[in-house]
Amino acid sequence: MSDKKYILVTGGAGFIGSHTVISLLEKGFEPIIIDDLRNAKPFIINNLETIAGKPILHYPIDCSELNPLEKVFTEYEISGIIHFAAYKAVDESIREPLKYYQNNIGSLLTVLQLAEKFKVANIIFSSSCTVYGEPKDTVIVDEMTPIQAATTPYGETKIMGEKILSDFQKANGNLKITALRYFNPIGAHESALIGELPLGKPANLLPYITQTGIGKLEKLVVFGNDYSTQDGSCIRDYIHIADLADAHVKALQNALESKTGFMDAINIGTGKGTSVLELIKVFEKVSGIKLNYSIGPRRTGDVPAIYANAEKAKTVLNWTATRTLEDSVLSAWNWEKYNSTL
Ligand code: UD1
Repeated sequence: MSDKKYILVTGGAGFIGSHTVISLLEKGFEPIIIDDLRNAKPFIINNLETIAGKPILHYPIDCSELNPLEKVFTEYEISGIIHFAAYKAVDESIREPLKYYQNNIGSLLTVLQLAEKFKVANIIFSSSCTVYGEPKDTVIVDEMTPIQAATTPYGETKIMGEKILSDFQKANGNLKITALRYFNPIGAHESALIGELPLGKPANLLPYITQTGIGKLEKLVVFGNDYSTQDGSCIRDYIHIADLADAHVKALQNALESKTGFMDAINIGTGKGTSVLELIKVFEKVSGIKLNYSIGPRRTGDVPAIYANAEKAKTVLNWTATRTLEDSVLSAWNWEKYNSTL
């Protein structure tokens, strides 16, 4: 029997998945990437291998297809599963709901069927603070904040995913399942060899800023400066991708060490809110570039301010964010510059 701890990482070539692969390797785990590269570029795998200094197991499989995935479970003794594989474009999910339900729910069900069959007890699920919707009174949300009805099919797949996992855990009491509810992941690996690769025009703020900074996009529009926040722009909790990746490894270690089964949901954020205008200022400081931006109307569906109470992650996982906002923005900027050379 191998003494290697194989961890299945579905969506392991994506933004959060690829950084988690590096964190797993740093802690001595053997990640197996399951990713058919529909939303990632093949060079990410090569660059992961450059960072790791060794080959990385990668299977270009659609993980909603049972048979090919089952072969991987047969070949390796898998100790844990980190399930990222999912679509995440909010607007697209409104236009093409079936695509989202089929892929995001379909892949989760397939992975869980195999987890049950092959008795893999340790499961980490990629969830989102989107499950909190638009909180009524408070901008700081902890895990007791009630889950709100989703406003988009994308959000619904995260709520449904957590519900499916909870029911599955109730029926299989030995399972140790953690849903990590991410706030706003930004930044890139310090090597600038992996990072966020938006296909087409980015929807998220920081890739939009860096692409405007490099001249790929002409101008950033700030979606509203008339919110009841300090400077009028929206507030979010931006978390460095390397910190977020480390949280997955901590959650995995916590599950591996636990003698009893559980289903838990944990916020992963910094606990600190930053406004859109503040983020622009940080970008201008670290890049030395004056950003071309203007103030536009509010974006429909935007929450004025939301950030994490991240105490539970500290208590349960012994995890806190360690990188600064400057680190995050600079790493994203270095990644954007690297991209412009490709
Ligand atoms: C968005 C999604 C959320 C998803 C998350 C993934 C919406 C309403 N929410 O969250 O469901 O989980 O991405 O990371 O789409 N902004 C601008 N100009 C831009 C782009 C963004 O001013 O060109 C502002 C937004 O108004 C917001 C902030 O930047 O205040 C962050 O936006 P974004 O990166 O899209 O993240 P969220 O809205 O928090």
